[in-house]
Amino acid sequence: MPDWGKQGFLTQADTEVMAKFLQNEPPAPPELSLQQMKDSWQLITPVEERPVAPETTRDWQNYFIVTLRDAGQVAIIDGDTYEVVNTVDSGYAVHITRMSASGRYAYVIGRDGRLALIDLWMEKPEVVARVQICYDARSVEVSKYEGPEGDFRDKYAITGCYWPPHFAILDGQTLEPMKVVSSRSYTYDTGEFHPEPRVASILASHFKPEWIVNIKETGQVWIVNYTDPQNPSIKMIEAALFLHDGGWDSTKRYFMVAANQSNKIAVVDALEGDLEALVDTPAVPHPGRGANWIDPEFGPVWSSPHLGDPAVVSVATDPVNHPENAWKSVRVTPLPGSGSLFIKTHPNSKWIWVDMTLNSDPVLARTICVIAKDDPAEVHKCWEVSTYGRAVHMEYNKQGTEVWISVWGDAANPGETGEIVIYNDATLEEKTRIKDLITPTGKFNVYNTVNDIY
Ligand code: HEM
Repeated sequence: MPDWGKQGFLTQADTEVMAKFLQNEPPAPPELSLQQMKDSWQLITPVEERPVAPETTRDWQNYFIVTLRDAGQVAIIDGDTYEVVNTVDSGYAVHITRMSASGRYAYVIGRDGRLALIDLWMEKPEVVARVQICYDARSVEVSKYEGPEGDFRDKYAITGCYWPPHFAILDGQTLEPMKVVSSRSYTYDTGEFHPEPRVASILASHFKPEWIVNIKETGQVWIVNYTDPQNPSIKMIEAALFLHDGGWDSTKRYFMVAANQSNKIAVVDALEGDLEALVDTPAVPHPGRGANWIDPEFGPVWSSPHLGDPAVVSVATDPVNHPENAWKSVRVTPLPGSGSLFIKTHPNSKWIWVDMTLNSDPVLARTICVIAKDDPAEVHKCWEVSTYGRAVHMEYNKQGTEVWISVWGDAANPGETGEIVIYNDATLEEKTRIKDLITPTGKFNVYNTVNDIY
């Protein structure tokens, strides 16, 4: 504990009160039942009152849904004109946005477990339903499968919770809660009971009517079949402890997920429904969804940066044409610093972009680096995106010609609250800035999110 007494912040009496307070048993956080979720559910615009075709002449597939973290809002920004089409209230510190399979709906999950559904076909996109699924959440996904077992596009949504430790299945068009499933279970390795295994990233399979649900503290990947969401079947795969975030390889067959405090990437085969490989990486991989590209020496790879190590690591992902390299960490590209949160590329781009958002040096925290795909041994160029704040999370526009980067500023500091800086991807030159946004962080282009382009 800091020496607040010696420093004069606390008197002797304050110190005693603080010491007594700290010795209290912390109260157990409350649970949240399916009925409580249903009680919180608000259907603002029923399905039959929503547009039957896009009302807007804008290219809504090129909208960016931008988290305005400290404002508890998201901005919907037109990727062609850079206009803010609307700003809507969401949960506090929105964590991610995912789109329905058609792209028409945006599902926005707040860290506070509040889920909002936005209809992007409206002239001015608005929230059409809301619900509270938990008190602490990070993930949301939709059903995407269409095939012999049925058409599940835009049918269901799933939200993963940190507290209470559970996931819930919802009606995809109304957010009406349908089913809650606890993630409390036993660790995959020693079989210890864990009372609080958090539900981290969730991805929808393209091969089967299934979600891949990562249970952090038990190290299990749950393959949840949603054909009968009231009675879901779950296959539990043993993987690695502390599963966190990840994305598809370029074929969308293999899910690459960081087991962050284990310093591993787990590779899950969505077709066979099993663990394909575990790959060692440096300290604390943090890929976001990662980056897929063709390495000149090793063929198709998927890359991740790291929170604890100044390195981008590329894992070879092509067991068919490059079996000798498959699931090996084949390349390490050094960065000027660690603290990276995200990486991004586009199939049409010659670059891979990477941030260092949580670096303790404020200059590196606002610096971006690009790696050239044809010369990936070292970074091609690094530069400061702004004079303040932290540079975080890159996203391409629909055409794959621009990269948008957030400057995560300080909500209490007028003029430095944050902005988005837009680069021409071919030349790396700055094109424009969308200024005066309140703490923008993650941003999700509709087209690229629907099509898993990264
Ligand atoms: C306590 C710290 C944090 C935890 C536990 C956490 C957890 C997670 C998890 C589990 C995901 C995966 C969700 C999914 O794909 O289904 C995720 C994604 C994401 N997180 Fe965090 N996160 C943390 C800090 C942050 C911070 C500081 C930021 C930004 C300021 C951030 C921004 C994002 C974004 C933008 C994504 C989505 C990335 C993408 O898909 O491109 N997170 N986070």
